Amino acid sequence: MAASIINGKGIAQEIRSEVKAEIEILKESRGLTPGLAVVLIGNDPASAIYVKNKEVACEEVGISTRTFHLPTDVSEEQVVELITSLNKSGLYHGILTQLPFPPHINDSNVIDHLDPAKDVDGLHPYNFGLLAAGTPRFIAATPYGVQQMLIRTGNDPAGKHVVVCGRSNIVGKPLSMLFSQKQAGSNATVTLCHSNTKDLGYFTKQADILVVAIGSPEVINADMVKEGAVVIDVGINRIDDDNRKRGYRLVGDVAFSDVSEVASAITPVPGGVGPMTIAMLLVNTVAAAKSSID
Ligand SMILES: NC(=O)c1ccc[n+]([C@@H]2O[C@H](COP(=O)([O-])OP(=O)(O)OC[C@H]3O[C@@H](n4cnc5c(N)ncnc54)[C@H](OP(=O)(O)O)[C@@H]3O)[C@@H](O)[C@H]2O)c1
Repeated sequence: MAASIINGKGIAQEIRSEVKAEIEILKESRGLTPGLAVVLIGNDPASAIYVKNKEVACEEVGISTRTFHLPTDVSEEQVVELITSLNKSGLYHGILTQLPFPPHINDSNVIDHLDPAKDVDGLHPYNFGLLAAGTPRFIAATPYGVQQMLIRTGNDPAGKHVVVCGRSNIVGKPLSMLFSQKQAGSNATVTLCHSNTKDLGYFTKQADILVVAIGSPEVINADMVKEGAVVIDVGINRIDDDNRKRGYRLVGDVAFSDVSEVASAITPVPGGVGPMTIAMLLVNTVAAAKSSID
Protein backbone atom coordinates (compact mmCIF):
# COMPACT_ATOMS: atom_id res chain seq x y z
CA MET A 1 0.00 0.00 0.00
CA ALA A 2 1.34 3.45 -0.84
CA ALA A 3 0.42 5.88 1.93
CA SER A 4 -1.25 9.17 1.19
CA ILE A 5 0.89 12.14 2.13
CA ILE A 6 -0.51 14.41 4.84
CA ASN A 7 0.26 17.88 3.53
CA GLY A 8 1.10 19.87 6.66
CA LYS A 9 2.10 22.88 4.63
CA GLY A 10 -1.30 23.02 2.93
CA ILE A 11 -3.29 22.49 6.14
CA ALA A 12 -1.18 25.12 7.90
CA GLN A 13 -1.91 27.58 5.08
CA GLU A 14 -5.63 26.89 5.50
CA ILE A 15 -5.35 27.65 9.25
CA ARG A 16 -3.30 30.80 8.57
CA SER A 17 -6.04 32.07 6.25
CA GLU A 18 -8.62 31.45 8.98
CA VAL A 19 -6.44 33.30 11.52
CA LYS A 20 -5.96 36.21 9.11
CA ALA A 21 -9.71 36.56 8.62
CA GLU A 22 -10.29 36.43 12.40
CA ILE A 23 -7.67 39.14 12.98
CA GLU A 24 -9.25 41.41 10.37
CA ILE A 25 -12.56 41.14 12.24
CA LEU A 26 -10.84 41.76 15.61
CA LYS A 27 -9.12 44.86 14.25
CA GLU A 28 -12.34 46.24 12.79
CA SER A 29 -14.75 45.38 15.58
CA ARG A 30 -12.55 45.73 18.68
CA GLY A 31 -9.59 47.82 17.46
CA LEU A 32 -7.30 45.03 18.64
CA THR A 33 -4.05 43.97 16.97
CA PRO A 34 -2.73 40.74 18.50
CA GLY A 35 0.93 40.99 19.49
CA LEU A 36 3.60 38.32 19.99
CA ALA A 37 6.95 38.83 21.71
CA VAL A 38 9.65 36.26 20.95
CA VAL A 39 12.59 35.83 23.31
CA LEU A 40 15.62 34.46 21.48
CA ILE A 41 18.95 33.91 23.23
CA GLY A 42 22.25 33.37 21.45
CA ASN A 43 23.04 32.45 17.86
CA ASP A 44 21.82 28.89 17.36
CA PRO A 45 21.24 28.75 13.57
CA ALA A 46 18.22 26.43 13.80
CA SER A 47 16.53 28.69 16.40
CA ALA A 48 17.24 31.73 14.22
CA ILE A 49 15.49 30.04 11.26
CA TYR A 50 12.48 29.05 13.40
CA VAL A 51 12.15 32.58 14.74
CA LYS A 52 12.43 34.11 11.27
CA ASN A 53 9.68 31.75 10.01
CA LYS A 54 7.48 32.74 12.93
CA GLU A 55 8.03 36.44 12.23
CA VAL A 56 7.09 35.99 8.57
CA ALA A 57 3.96 34.02 9.51
CA CYS A 58 2.91 36.68 12.05
CA GLU A 59 3.33 39.46 9.51
CA GLU A 60 1.35 37.54 6.90
CA VAL A 61 -1.71 37.19 9.16
CA GLY A 62 -1.53 40.63 10.80
CA ILE A 63 -0.01 39.79 14.22
CA SER A 64 2.39 42.47 15.37
CA THR A 65 5.61 40.80 16.45
CA ARG A 66 8.98 41.68 17.89
CA THR A 67 11.95 39.44 18.60
CA PHE A 68 13.98 40.28 21.70
CA HIS A 69 17.38 38.89 20.75
CA LEU A 70 19.65 38.54 23.77
CA PRO A 71 23.36 37.66 23.70
CA THR A 72 24.48 34.13 24.62
CA ASP A 73 26.10 35.35 27.84
CA VAL A 74 22.97 37.12 29.13
CA SER A 75 22.26 36.27 32.77
CA GLU A 76 19.16 34.40 33.89
CA GLU A 77 18.18 37.45 35.98
CA GLN A 78 18.22 39.63 32.86
CA VAL A 79 16.03 37.14 30.98
CA VAL A 80 13.56 37.04 33.89
CA GLU A 81 13.58 40.86 33.98
CA LEU A 82 12.66 40.96 30.29
CA ILE A 83 9.89 38.38 30.78
CA THR A 84 8.51 40.39 33.70
CA SER A 85 8.36 43.57 31.62
CA LEU A 86 6.74 41.72 28.68
CA ASN A 87 4.15 40.31 31.09
CA LYS A 88 3.10 43.88 31.87
CA SER A 89 3.19 45.17 28.29
CA GLY A 90 -0.15 45.91 26.64
CA LEU A 91 1.41 45.40 23.19
CA TYR A 92 2.17 41.70 23.53
CA HIS A 93 -0.62 39.24 24.23
CA GLY A 94 1.65 36.26 23.73
CA ILE A 95 5.25 35.56 24.77
CA LEU A 96 7.27 32.81 23.14
CA THR A 97 10.55 31.65 24.65
CA GLN A 98 12.54 30.06 21.82
CA LEU A 99 14.15 26.95 23.33
CA PRO A 100 16.74 25.62 23.82
CA PHE A 101 18.33 28.33 25.95
CA PRO A 102 22.10 28.26 26.61
CA PRO A 103 22.98 25.74 29.36
CA HIS A 104 23.61 28.35 32.06
CA ILE A 105 19.96 29.46 31.89
CA ASN A 106 17.40 27.35 33.68
CA ASP A 107 14.50 27.05 31.18
CA SER A 108 12.01 26.00 33.84
CA ASN A 109 12.77 28.99 36.04
CA VAL A 110 12.30 31.41 33.13
CA ILE A 111 9.05 29.71 32.07
CA ASP A 112 7.77 29.88 35.67
CA HIS A 113 8.00 33.68 35.38
CA LEU A 114 5.78 33.86 32.28
CA ASP A 115 2.30 35.22 32.82
CA PRO A 116 0.24 32.04 32.18
CA ALA A 117 -2.28 34.20 30.26
CA LYS A 118 0.49 35.05 27.75
CA ASP A 119 2.09 31.58 27.64
CA VAL A 120 1.09 30.80 24.03
CA ASP A 121 3.38 27.75 23.92
CA GLY A 122 1.54 26.13 26.84
CA LEU A 123 4.74 25.50 28.78
CA HIS A 124 3.93 27.19 32.10
CA PRO A 125 3.12 24.65 34.83
CA TYR A 126 -0.32 26.24 35.24
CA ASN A 127 -1.23 25.64 31.59
CA PHE A 128 0.35 22.19 31.72
CA GLY A 129 -1.80 21.47 34.75
CA LEU A 130 -4.95 22.70 33.01
CA LEU A 131 -4.28 20.27 30.17
CA ALA A 132 -3.67 17.43 32.62
CA ALA A 133 -6.93 18.34 34.41
CA GLY A 134 -8.90 18.17 31.16
CA THR A 135 -9.60 21.91 30.87
CA PRO A 136 -6.85 23.12 28.52
CA ARG A 137 -6.27 26.81 27.79
CA PHE A 138 -3.07 26.97 25.71
CA ILE A 139 -1.95 23.69 24.21
CA ALA A 140 1.70 23.53 23.13
CA ALA A 141 1.80 24.41 19.44
CA THR A 142 3.29 21.16 18.13
CA PRO A 143 0.82 18.79 19.86
CA TYR A 144 -2.03 21.12 18.92
CA GLY A 145 -0.82 21.07 15.31
CA VAL A 146 -0.64 17.27 15.26
CA GLN A 147 -4.21 17.08 16.54
CA GLN A 148 -5.46 19.55 13.91
CA MET A 149 -3.68 17.61 11.14
CA LEU A 150 -5.45 14.43 12.15
CA ILE A 151 -8.85 16.06 12.50
CA ARG A 152 -8.59 17.94 9.20
CA THR A 153 -7.57 14.83 7.27
CA GLY A 154 -10.47 12.75 8.60
CA ASN A 155 -8.28 10.76 11.01
CA ASP A 156 -10.18 11.48 14.22
CA PRO A 157 -8.24 9.87 17.10
CA ALA A 158 -11.48 8.97 18.96
CA GLY A 159 -11.51 5.27 19.86
CA LYS A 160 -8.12 4.69 18.21
CA HIS A 161 -4.95 3.45 19.82
CA VAL A 162 -2.50 6.36 19.64
CA VAL A 163 1.11 5.48 20.40
CA VAL A 164 3.36 8.46 21.15
CA CYS A 165 7.15 7.99 21.07
CA GLY A 166 8.95 10.61 23.16
CA ARG A 167 7.88 12.26 26.43
CA SER A 168 9.38 15.76 26.29
CA ASN A 169 7.43 18.55 27.95
CA ILE A 170 7.10 20.36 24.63
CA VAL A 171 5.90 17.48 22.44
CA GLY A 172 5.40 13.92 23.70
CA LYS A 173 3.96 14.48 27.16
CA PRO A 174 1.39 17.14 26.19
CA LEU A 175 0.49 15.04 23.13
CA SER A 176 -0.29 12.06 25.32
CA MET A 177 -2.42 14.24 27.62
CA LEU A 178 -4.15 15.89 24.67
CA PHE A 179 -5.18 12.65 22.99
CA SER A 180 -6.50 11.21 26.23
CA GLN A 181 -8.85 14.18 26.86
CA LYS A 182 -12.52 13.30 27.13
CA GLN A 183 -13.54 15.56 24.27
CA ALA A 184 -13.94 15.76 20.49
CA GLY A 185 -10.67 15.41 18.59
CA SER A 186 -9.21 13.27 21.39
CA ASN A 187 -10.83 10.33 23.22
CA ALA A 188 -8.06 7.95 22.18
CA THR A 189 -6.41 5.12 24.05
CA VAL A 190 -2.87 6.36 24.52
CA THR A 191 0.45 4.61 25.01
CA LEU A 192 3.50 6.76 25.77
CA CYS A 193 6.93 5.32 24.92
CA HIS A 194 10.39 6.68 25.80
CA SER A 195 14.03 5.70 25.87
CA ASN A 196 13.43 3.16 28.64
CA THR A 197 10.64 1.40 26.76
CA LYS A 198 11.62 -2.23 26.24
CA ASP A 199 10.96 -3.42 22.68
CA LEU A 200 9.70 -0.17 21.17
CA GLY A 201 8.52 -1.99 18.02
CA TYR A 202 6.12 -4.15 20.05
CA PHE A 203 4.23 -0.97 21.03
CA THR A 204 4.55 1.00 17.78
CA LYS A 205 3.19 -1.98 15.85
CA GLN A 206 -0.05 -1.76 17.82
CA ALA A 207 -0.69 1.88 16.89
CA ASP A 208 -3.63 2.94 14.76
CA ILE A 209 -2.03 6.37 14.92
CA LEU A 210 1.71 6.55 15.55
CA VAL A 211 3.25 9.89 16.56
CA VAL A 212 7.04 9.95 16.73
CA ALA A 213 8.99 12.70 18.51
CA ILE A 214 12.29 11.12 19.45
CA GLY A 215 14.91 13.25 17.70
CA SER A 216 16.89 10.41 16.05
CA PRO A 217 16.97 10.02 12.29
CA GLU A 218 14.75 7.34 10.75
CA VAL A 219 14.60 4.98 13.77
CA ILE A 220 11.05 3.86 13.00
CA ASN A 221 11.11 1.39 10.13
CA ALA A 222 8.39 -0.47 8.24
CA ASP A 223 8.63 -3.55 10.52
CA MET A 224 7.60 -1.36 13.46
CA VAL A 225 4.38 -0.06 11.85
CA LYS A 226 1.00 -1.75 11.51
CA GLU A 227 -0.48 -2.07 8.01
CA GLY A 228 -2.82 0.90 7.46
CA ALA A 229 -1.59 2.98 10.41
CA VAL A 230 -1.49 6.78 10.25
CA VAL A 231 2.06 7.98 10.95
CA ILE A 232 2.90 11.48 12.16
CA ASP A 233 6.61 12.27 12.18
CA VAL A 234 7.49 15.19 14.44
CA GLY A 235 11.26 14.68 14.26
CA ILE A 236 13.55 17.07 12.44
CA ASN A 237 17.10 15.79 12.05
CA ARG A 238 19.99 17.12 9.97
CA ILE A 239 21.88 14.50 7.97
CA ASP A 240 25.16 15.33 6.18
CA ASP A 241 24.59 15.37 2.44
CA ASP A 242 27.34 16.50 0.08
CA ASN A 243 24.85 16.60 -2.79
CA ARG A 244 23.05 19.52 -1.17
CA LYS A 245 24.37 23.04 -1.49
CA ARG A 246 24.01 23.59 2.28
CA GLY A 247 25.78 20.28 3.05
CA TYR A 248 22.87 18.59 4.81
CA ARG A 249 19.28 17.49 4.37
CA LEU A 250 16.43 17.19 6.84
CA VAL A 251 14.89 13.84 7.71
CA GLY A 252 12.37 12.79 10.31
CA ASP A 253 12.42 10.09 12.98
CA VAL A 254 10.57 7.77 10.59
CA ALA A 255 12.12 6.00 7.56
CA PHE A 256 9.72 7.73 5.20
CA SER A 257 10.00 5.62 2.01
CA ASP A 258 9.84 2.24 3.76
CA VAL A 259 7.05 3.19 6.14
CA SER A 260 5.04 4.72 3.27
CA GLU A 261 4.67 1.15 1.97
CA VAL A 262 2.72 0.02 5.05
CA ALA A 263 1.06 3.14 6.44
CA SER A 264 -2.24 4.47 5.10
CA ALA A 265 -1.15 8.10 5.61
CA ILE A 266 2.12 9.72 6.61
CA THR A 267 3.60 13.19 7.14
CA PRO A 268 6.71 14.23 5.22
CA VAL A 269 9.74 15.99 6.73
CA PRO A 270 9.99 18.82 5.93
CA GLY A 271 6.47 20.03 5.09
CA GLY A 272 4.59 18.02 7.70
CA VAL A 273 4.36 18.93 11.38
CA GLY A 274 6.76 21.92 11.21
CA PRO A 275 4.39 24.34 9.42
CA MET A 276 1.54 23.22 11.69
CA THR A 277 3.51 24.24 14.77
CA ILE A 278 3.81 27.79 13.47
CA ALA A 279 0.14 27.94 12.46
CA MET A 280 -1.00 26.88 15.95
CA LEU A 281 1.26 29.47 17.58
CA LEU A 282 -0.71 32.07 15.60
CA VAL A 283 -4.00 30.52 16.74
CA ASN A 284 -2.86 30.64 20.38
CA THR A 285 -1.69 34.25 20.05
CA VAL A 286 -5.09 35.34 18.74
CA ALA A 287 -6.79 33.40 21.56
CA ALA A 288 -4.56 35.21 24.10
CA ALA A 289 -5.38 38.59 22.55
CA LYS A 290 -9.11 37.85 22.61
CA SER A 291 -9.08 36.71 26.22
CA SER A 292 -7.20 39.89 27.19
CA ILE A 293 -10.30 41.92 26.28
CA ASP A 294 -13.06 39.44 27.10
N1 LIG B 1 8.11 19.76 13.80
C1 LIG B 1 8.15 20.60 14.83
O1 LIG B 1 7.53 21.65 14.83
C2 LIG B 1 8.94 20.21 16.02
C3 LIG B 1 8.71 20.82 17.25
C4 LIG B 1 9.44 20.37 18.35
C5 LIG B 1 10.37 19.35 18.19
N2 LIG B 1 10.60 18.83 16.95
C6 LIG B 1 11.53 17.73 16.74
O2 LIG B 1 10.99 16.57 17.36
C7 LIG B 1 12.02 15.75 17.88
C8 LIG B 1 11.79 15.57 19.36
O3 LIG B 1 11.86 16.83 20.00
P1 LIG B 1 11.77 16.98 21.58
O4 LIG B 1 11.99 18.38 21.91
O5 LIG B 1 10.52 16.31 22.04
O6 LIG B 1 13.06 16.09 21.99
P2 LIG B 1 13.66 15.70 23.38
O7 LIG B 1 13.35 16.71 24.42
O8 LIG B 1 15.08 15.35 23.11
O9 LIG B 1 12.89 14.37 23.79
C9 LIG B 1 13.08 13.18 23.08
C10 LIG B 1 12.22 12.11 23.68
O10 LIG B 1 12.41 10.91 22.93
C11 LIG B 1 12.72 9.83 23.82
N3 LIG B 1 13.62 8.92 23.13
C12 LIG B 1 14.88 9.15 22.74
N4 LIG B 1 15.38 8.06 22.11
C13 LIG B 1 14.39 7.13 22.11
C14 LIG B 1 14.27 5.83 21.60
N5 LIG B 1 15.26 5.22 20.94
N6 LIG B 1 13.10 5.17 21.77
C15 LIG B 1 12.06 5.75 22.41
N7 LIG B 1 12.10 7.02 22.89
C16 LIG B 1 13.26 7.69 22.75
C17 LIG B 1 13.35 10.46 25.04
O11 LIG B 1 13.15 9.59 26.13
P3 LIG B 1 13.61 9.96 27.65
O12 LIG B 1 12.55 10.89 28.17
O13 LIG B 1 13.63 8.67 28.35
O14 LIG B 1 14.95 10.63 27.52
C18 LIG B 1 12.58 11.78 25.14
O15 LIG B 1 11.40 11.61 25.88
C19 LIG B 1 13.32 16.49 17.52
O16 LIG B 1 13.80 15.98 16.29
C20 LIG B 1 12.89 17.92 17.35
O17 LIG B 1 13.73 18.65 16.47
C21 LIG B 1 9.89 19.23 15.88
